[in-house]
Amino acid sequence: MAAEVSAGTAKGGDTPLLALRGLRKTFGGGLPGARPALDGVDLSLAPGDFAVIIGSNGAGKSTLLNSIAGTFALDAGTIALSGRDITRLAGHRRAGMITRVFQDPMIGTAAAMTIEENLALAERRGQPRRLRLALDRRRRDSYRDRLRPLALGLEDRLTTPVALLSGGQRQALSLIMAVMSRPALLLLDEHTAALDPRTAEIVMEATLRVVAEQGLTALMVTHNMRQAIETGNRLVMMDAGRIRLDIAGPEKSALTAADLVEKFRIDNDRMLLGS
Ligand SMILES: Nc1ncnc2c1ncn2[C@@H]1O[C@H](COP(=O)(O)OP(=O)(O)O)[C@@H](O)[C@H]1O
Ligand SMILES: [Mg+2]
Repeated sequence: MAAEVSAGTAKGGDTPLLALRGLRKTFGGGLPGARPALDGVDLSLAPGDFAVIIGSNGAGKSTLLNSIAGTFALDAGTIALSGRDITRLAGHRRAGMITRVFQDPMIGTAAAMTIEENLALAERRGQPRRLRLALDRRRRDSYRDRLRPLALGLEDRLTTPVALLSGGQRQALSLIMAVMSRPALLLLDEHTAALDPRTAEIVMEATLRVVAEQGLTALMVTHNMRQAIETGNRLVMMDAGRIRLDIAGPEKSALTAADLVEKFRIDNDRMLLGS
C-alpha cells in the first residue's frame, strides 16, 4: 500500500522526506517567449520540516505544489519522497501520501455528501478503490474525536450535507480530511486566505495542532506576512519560478517582517499588508 511504501523507505535520519531537483515547467506548449513557471527549483525537506513559501503572484508557488502533488508532468527534474522517486507516479497514486488543502473551501470537500461520508472518503484515500468503510459506531466516534478540537460543533453534525456548512467550516473539515490518511507530506496553498480573520485563525490553529500531533512534514504557501514570520521552521521565497531565499533554524526564528522587507526588498503590497 502506498502509505506503507513511503514510511518503509525512510531509512535513518539522512534521507530527506522530500527532495526536489531541477524542477522545470513551462505552460503554453513551449511557445516562443513563454516564461517558465518553474525555472530550476531545488528544495529538500527533512522529516518534520514545516516550510512556509512566500512570493509575489505568479512566482510559481502553486505550480510547485501542483508538481509535488502530480497534477501535471514536469518538463524536467525529479521528485523523491522519503527516498523513493515519484517523478512519474500518477497524481492519484500519490493521494494517500501527499495531501493538500487549497484556498477555495469548495474544492476540498464533496458538497452533496455528509460530513461523515466525506471523512470516510478521506480515510480510505490512497487505499484500493474497493475498500469500503462501514460507518459503524466506532468509526463515527473517531470522526467526532477528530472534529471536536475544532470547536465548530461539527462533531454533532456528522449527517449534515457539507453544502450546508460555511466556508470556514468546510475549510476546517478539508484540513481534517487532508490528514486523515496520515500523509507523509501536507501541502497547504493559501488555505486560510479566503476566510474571515477569526475563521482563518481557527483553521491555522487546527493546522499547527494536527501537524504537531502527527509529526507531519508540511509546505504552506501564504501571502500573510505574520503567518510567514510566526509559522514553521523554514522560510522559502520564490520569484519568477526560482527559489530566491531559503532560511531555517535560528535565522528563521529571529526573522521579523521588517527584516524581510529590508533585506530582500519584497515589493508586493498584498504580501506586505498580509491578508
Ligand atoms: N494550469 C496552468 N496553465 C497555464 N499557465 C499556468 C497554469 N498554472 C500556472 N500557470 C502560470 O504559471 C505561472 C506561475 O503561476 P502560479 O504557480 O499559479 O503562481 P503563484 O501561485 O505563485 O501565484 C503564472 O504565470 C501562471 O499564469
Ligand atoms: Mg498560487
